[in-house]
Amino acid sequence: MTEPSCRFEVFTIFPEVVDGFVRAGVLGRAIEREVVDVRATNIRDFTTDKHRSVDDSPFGGGAGMVMKPGPIVDALEHVTSERGPMHRIMLTPSAPRFDQRAAERLARLPRIALVCGRYEGIDERVRDHYIDECFSIGDYVLGGGEVAALVLIEAIARLVEGVMGNPTSAESESFSQADDGEILEYPQYTRPAEYRGHRVPDVLLGGDHQAVERWRAEAARRRTWALRPDLRPRRKLPPAEHWLAVQAEGDIDIPSLARVAMHHRVAGVALLGATPDAAAQWAAATGGKIPGAALTGLKALQKRLRRGSGAAPWVVRLAEPDESREGTDELAHGAQSPSELADVLGQGPVGHAMVLWLADRTHPDTGRVDAEYAPSLDAVQRAQQGLAIPGAIEEGPPPRQQPAAIADVALATLAPAAEEPGDADPRERDEP
Ligand code: 6GU
Repeated sequence: MTEPSCRFEVFTIFPEVVDGFVRAGVLGRAIEREVVDVRATNIRDFTTDKHRSVDDSPFGGGAGMVMKPGPIVDALEHVTSERGPMHRIMLTPSAPRFDQRAAERLARLPRIALVCGRYEGIDERVRDHYIDECFSIGDYVLGGGEVAALVLIEAIARLVEGVMGNPTSAESESFSQADDGEILEYPQYTRPAEYRGHRVPDVLLGGDHQAVERWRAEAARRRTWALRPDLRPRRKLPPAEHWLAVQAEGDIDIPSLARVAMHHRVAGVALLGATPDAAAQWAAATGGKIPGAALTGLKALQKRLRRGSGAAPWVVRLAEPDESREGTDELAHGAQSPSELADVLGQGPVGHAMVLWLADRTHPDTGRVDAEYAPSLDAVQRAQQGLAIPGAIEEGPPPRQQPAAIADVALATLAPAAEEPGDADPRERDEP
């Protein structure tokens, strides 16, 4: 066996916690096979007083204790002289957030030191003069850096060649699709196909691999959109003429639609199946700024736009959830959420007119657009039966029932951002 390609040195006052954790599972086997090496050094072994104290009260007063610089720096220097230089990382909540990009970068390093603080923190001179980089694992406070160090070890080690059994299984997971931005993983199912009456989605049982791929991509996008607003894709609109098409049966909220249309300066709005009266109402609401056409249906709009540009318009329909699961219909590309709408619009052919077809999308049971991410009916039932803690069942995302509101979010997502932050990583590093 060759040398382990990735070595971790953990500096902690709880070495037994680290040793115990890393022996389990895939990481434990990688250590046995000597692909990865994890060692824990007890900072307390580098104290010099008879109480073996690693902390002291803060200069300037205040609550709590601060870890002394001496034992930590002595421990780092001892291990460096015994086993060689390391990239020195300190775990602290006052640091940039650790993420998959950081894990990918660190997985290329041969030796990493992880310095864990306890108490109120570590004397700042350690960070300033003996540490290369700091990480936090999230916006909450832990009792110490040990769990955070284990998070880094697990995230980094599984990217090291030879640690995971199957080399592709690290790739399709949440946050690993570097080319298309960060996206959550699609839902997974295994046998039985029906569990207590809950069925696995039919498409996964059908053996149509392309349909499975489409379903998974769609499910991952929807989930990311609903659960992680910070990861919503932002793309520039391709130059095209955008029309909104609204089905006029039922109520159309003309004032809010007019606001959306004017805000995004769409080329026009088609009121499908509407009376000339609705068109007059429209003209009044926009002050004549956005053309509004009362048309018999989508085909009439398509014909009209084809006459204008010579090419068929790209139509995206905000469909009912059940219809959109089937994929697309012959007239329109389906989209159920602003994210899908943005994705499908963003992929449209340049120069073709585009139509957002706003169908009513209210969920029949819950009255919510994002019904999937509201508490399930099962959860509500369990609460009624005393099998759940009622206060713990959240309201879920706020209802966005108006198609106009969905178009608003989708168009805002696609619109060129006023000021792009640029490609540089804005996060502060302690040292280059
Ligand atoms: Cl790295 N350390 C501590 N003590 N708390 C944290 C953390 C680290 N990351 C988030 N919370």
